[in-house]
Amino acid sequence: MSSRDCILCKLISLTITAVVCSVLFLASLHINYHWEFIKEHVRFRRNSPQQNGWMHSPQGMLRVYMFNVTNAESFLNGTDLRLKIEQIGPIAYHVTGLNEILSQTDDNVTFRRNPHNIFEFDPWASSSPDILNQTIIMPNIILLSSAAKLHDWVFFVRHAFNAITINESAFLKETINYFLWDFTIPTLSLLAHYVPNIVSNCGLLYNALRPKDLIYNVKIGVDNGIENFFRVNTFNNKTYFPQQRAYVKRAKKSDEHCPVILDNSFDNSLFPPLLTPETELNIIATESCRTLKLNYDRDVVCQGFNAYREVPTAFSAPHFMNTAYNFTKHFEGLSPDKEKHEAEVIIEPTMGIPLEEKYRFQINIPLPDMKGFNKDLQRFSHMVIPSFWYEFVSLFQISSSLQLSFVLIQLRNFDNFRIWTICQH
Ligand SMILES: *[C@@H]1O[C@H](CO)[C@@H](O)[C@H](O)[C@H]1NC(C)=O
Ligand SMILES: *[C@@H]1O[C@H](CO)[C@@H](O)[C@H](O)[C@H]1NC(C)=O
Ligand SMILES: *[C@@H]1O[C@H](CO)[C@@H](O)[C@H](O)[C@H]1NC(C)=O
Ligand SMILES: *[C@@H]1O[C@H](CO)[C@@H](O)[C@H](O)[C@H]1NC(C)=O
Ligand SMILES: *[C@@H]1O[C@H](CO)[C@@H](O)[C@H](O)[C@H]1NC(C)=O
Ligand SMILES: *[C@@H]1O[C@H](CO)[C@@H](O)[C@H](O)[C@H]1NC(C)=O
Ligand SMILES: *[C@@H]1O[C@H](CO)[C@@H](O)[C@H](O)[C@H]1NC(C)=O
Repeated sequence: MSSRDCILCKLISLTITAVVCSVLFLASLHINYHWEFIKEHVRFRRNSPQQNGWMHSPQGMLRVYMFNVTNAESFLNGTDLRLKIEQIGPIAYHVTGLNEILSQTDDNVTFRRNPHNIFEFDPWASSSPDILNQTIIMPNIILLSSAAKLHDWVFFVRHAFNAITINESAFLKETINYFLWDFTIPTLSLLAHYVPNIVSNCGLLYNALRPKDLIYNVKIGVDNGIENFFRVNTFNNKTYFPQQRAYVKRAKKSDEHCPVILDNSFDNSLFPPLLTPETELNIIATESCRTLKLNYDRDVVCQGFNAYREVPTAFSAPHFMNTAYNFTKHFEGLSPDKEKHEAEVIIEPTMGIPLEEKYRFQINIPLPDMKGFNKDLQRFSHMVIPSFWYEFVSLFQISSSLQLSFVLIQLRNFDNFRIWTICQH
C-alpha cells in the first residue's frame, strides 16, 4: 500500500465523518431550536414579548344581532300561529381585553381578566350608523322570563303577578339602544318582590358586560408538562362554578351532561403546544357558567339544545342551529347556516396560540306552559324566545419580536392549521 493511497483513504474517511457530523449537527440544531422555543414559550416569563402580547388580548369585534317582530298583533289575537321575526344588525363594537397578572411563580400564574376593557360602538361597521336609534318590536322578555320563573309557584303568586303586570304589554316597541343598554319596565321594582335576583337594568348588553370577577390561576412551566400549559387550576379561587353548586354535589367528575367542574379545562386565551386532533380541549364559558368542549373537525355529533331549568336564559348557537328545538313550530324568519352561525377557534397547533376565534352565542328564554297567566302571555307557551345573538371575532395580536420566530414555525406547519368547532349542548 502506497502512502498516496493512505492519504486518499484518510481524506475520504475524514470527508465522510465531516458530512455525518454536519448532518447530525444540523439535525440537532433543528430539533433543539424547536424544542427550546417551546420550552421558553411554556415558561411564560414576565415581560416576555409573548406575555405582553397576551396581556392585551383578546382584541376583536363584537357584532350583535336582534330580532324585530313584524306580526305582533296578529300573533296575539290568534290570526297568526307563528311569530314572524326579522334579523336586525349587526350592531358593532370594538373590544379589547386586558389580562392583568396578579402573581406569578415558576409553576402557575394568577391573573384577572377584563374581557371588555375597551368597548366602543362602531357606527360604520354596523348595519346603519344610526342603528341604535332605530325602533324594533320585541317580546317583553322581562315580563316573560319573570313569569317563567314563577310558573312553578302556587296559584296566588301567578295571580299577584297578573295583577301587578296588568298594564304591561307582551310586546314592546323601543329603540335598539333601549333594549341593549337601558331596558326596564315600569313594574320592574314591584316584580323584584317576587322574582329573585332580578336586576334594575335588564339591558341585554348592559347585563352581559357587567363587570364580573374573572380570576384565573393556570399552570405554566416545564415541570408541569408542556401538555398542561395554561390548564386552569382555579377560577375565582374555586375548582367549579359556584352558581352550579347543586350539580357539583351530584357529579364526581365533569361529563358531557354536567360540565360544571373545571378540571382539565382551559381559560381560552392560550392552549398547550403540540396539539393534535386527539387533544381534548375544554374551555370555560363564563357566560353560561359551564365548560364547553372544543371538537376537532366539523363532523361532530351535537347533542342539541339543552335548557337549564334553574337559569332563565339558555344558550344555543344562533338561529337555534343544531338544536333539538323545532323552532319552525313557533317562528318564521330564522335560517340557521353553518357558515354564519357556527363557532370556531383556529389554533396554531405547534404553539397552541389561538389565531382567530369566532364565538357565536344566542341567548334564549325558554318558556314553560304559561297556564294561569294572562291571555297574551299564554300565547307564548313552550316557546323558546331568542333575545339576541352575538358574534365575537378576534385575531390574536402577536408582538413584532415574537412574530419573527412565530412566522418561521407557522410557515413550516402551514398545512397543519386546525379548526376546532364548539359543539353547544
Ligand atoms: C321593525 O318592525 C316594525 C313593524 O314591522 C317596523 O315598523 C320597523 O321599522 C322595523 N324596524 C327596523 C329597524 O327595521
Ligand atoms: C288580528 O289582528 C290583525 C292585525 O291587527 C287584524 O288584521 C285581524 O283582523 C285581527 N283578527 C282578529 C280575529 O281580531
Ligand atoms: C402556585 O405555585 C406556588 C409556588 O410553586 C404554589 O405554592 C401554589 O400552591 C400554586 N398554586 C396553585 C393554585 O396551584
Ligand atoms: C340618536 O338619538 C339621540 C337622542 O334622540 C341623539 O342625540 C343622537 O344624535 C342620535 N344618534 C344618531 C346616530 O342618530
Ligand atoms: C294600570 O293603568 C290604569 C290606567 O292608566 C291605572 O289606573 C292603574 O292603576 C294601573 N295599574 C297598575 C297596577 O299599574
Ligand atoms: C383562595 O383560597 C385560599 C385557600 O382556600 C385562600 O387562602 C385565599 O385567601 C383565597 N384567595 C382569594 C382571593 O379569595
Ligand atoms: C316542526 O314543526 C313543523 C311545524 O309545526 C312541522 O311541520 C314539522 O314536522 C316539525 N318537525 C319535526 C322534526 O318535528
